[in-house]
Amino acid sequence: MSVTRRTLLTTAAGAAVAASAGTSAVASATTFDQASTTRTLRQAADYAVAKLGAVAPGVTAFPVGTKFEKWTYSNNGDWVGGFWPGQLWLAWLHSGDDRFKTLALASAEKLAPRQNDTGTHDLGFLFYPSWVTAWRLTGDDKWRAGAVQAASSLIKRYNPAGKFIRAWGALTDPKDAGRVIMDTMMNLDLLSFATQQTGDRQYLDIAVAHARTAQRNFVRPDGSTPHVFDFDPVTGAPIGPNTVQGYSPTSCWSRGQAWGVYGFTTIHRRTGDPEFLATARKLADYALSRLTSDHVPVWDYLAPQAPNDVKDASAGVIMACGLLDLAELTHRTQYRDSALRILTAISQTCLTTKSTRAEASVARCTRNRPAEDGVEVSLPYADYYLLEGILRVLDRRKVDRAVDLSSV
Ligand code: GLY
Repeated sequence: MSVTRRTLLTTAAGAAVAASAGTSAVASATTFDQASTTRTLRQAADYAVAKLGAVAPGVTAFPVGTKFEKWTYSNNGDWVGGFWPGQLWLAWLHSGDDRFKTLALASAEKLAPRQNDTGTHDLGFLFYPSWVTAWRLTGDDKWRAGAVQAASSLIKRYNPAGKFIRAWGALTDPKDAGRVIMDTMMNLDLLSFATQQTGDRQYLDIAVAHARTAQRNFVRPDGSTPHVFDFDPVTGAPIGPNTVQGYSPTSCWSRGQAWGVYGFTTIHRRTGDPEFLATARKLADYALSRLTSDHVPVWDYLAPQAPNDVKDASAGVIMACGLLDLAELTHRTQYRDSALRILTAISQTCLTTKSTRAEASVARCTRNRPAEDGVEVSLPYADYYLLEGILRVLDRRKVDRAVDLSSV
C-alpha cells in the first residue's frame, strides 16, 4: 500500500486522537495526495451533475427520498423542498449549463406559498439554498423579499420563556410546543440573512438565543448530543433529552450531530462568538472519534449495534461541509483532512454509479431508522451536501456565490 493510499485511509479516530493531544495533523495534510483526491471528487461532482441533468427535466415536484432507487415526491416541498433547487443552482455553477438555471428558477418558484408557513421550523432548509441562493445568483429582489418573509414566519415560533424556536407542530397545537431539535441549528442562518438584509436585529438575536439554549442543554460533556430536548412550553424550564430519529434519549443520532457541527460553525461565523466555535469543535471531535475506517457514519453513533449497523451517508456529507468551515476558522488542517476523507470515501463507496435505475447520486442514507422509514435509501439533502462539499473543495468561490461563506 502506498503512502498516499495509507494516508487517505487513516482513520478519523486517529485524527481525533491527534486533535485531542493538541497535535495538528499537518503531516497528514502534507502527504494527502491532492491530485488523486481532486480527481475523485471531480468525478463524483461530474457524476452528480450528469445524473441531475438526466433526471431533473422530468421532475415537477420535490424529491423527498427514494423507493427502489426512484424518487418519491412532495408537492409542497415538505421540509426538503429547498434542496432540489439548491442542487440545480450548484449544478449550474459547476457546469455553466443554463438549463440548470431555468430548472432551478422553476423549482424555487413552487416554494412561494411556504414563505408564510408558521407551522414548521424548517424554513431555513426550505428558503436558504433555494431563494437566498436565487437572490445571490440573479439579483432579483423577489427572492430576497420572500426569504426575509420566510424568516419573519420562522421567528413567530420563538418561545421567549425558554429562549428557543419550537420545532414541530402548528402554533395553535399544544402538542410538541416545548420540543426543540438539533436540526433547527441549520435553520438559523435564514435569520442571520434577514438581519443582514433589513438591519433589524431581532432575527439574529433570536437565532443567537436559540443557539445558546441548544448549546446549554443538548451538548453532553463528551460532545455527543441527543436529537431532541424538551422544555416546559409555559415556564421554559428544561425537562430533558429525547429522540425521534435517533436510537434513544441518551444516544447520538449521527445526522443530528452533523447538523450541530455545521450549525454551530455557521452561527459562529455570523457572530464571532468563540463559544459557538468551541461547541462546534466539541461536536465535531466527538463525531470524528466515532467514525470507522470506512468514513461513512453509522445512523446513530450510540445505537447498540454501532458501529456495525445501517449507514447514513447524508450525515457524512453534511458534517464534511461544516468541517471545511471549521478548518478555516480554527486553522486546524485535521478538520479539512477529515472532510476530504469523508467526501472521498462517500464518492468511492456510496454513489449510485453501478445502478442503471437510480435517480439520485448518493445511496446508503437513512431517514428515520426507528420508524423503519427510509433505511439505506437516497435523500435529496445527501445529494445537495455532497455537491456543496465537493464544490467547496474544488472551487470555494463558486459555492460562496450561492451561499454566504463569509465570517464577521
Ligand atoms: N431535519 C430532519 C432530518 O434531518 O431528517
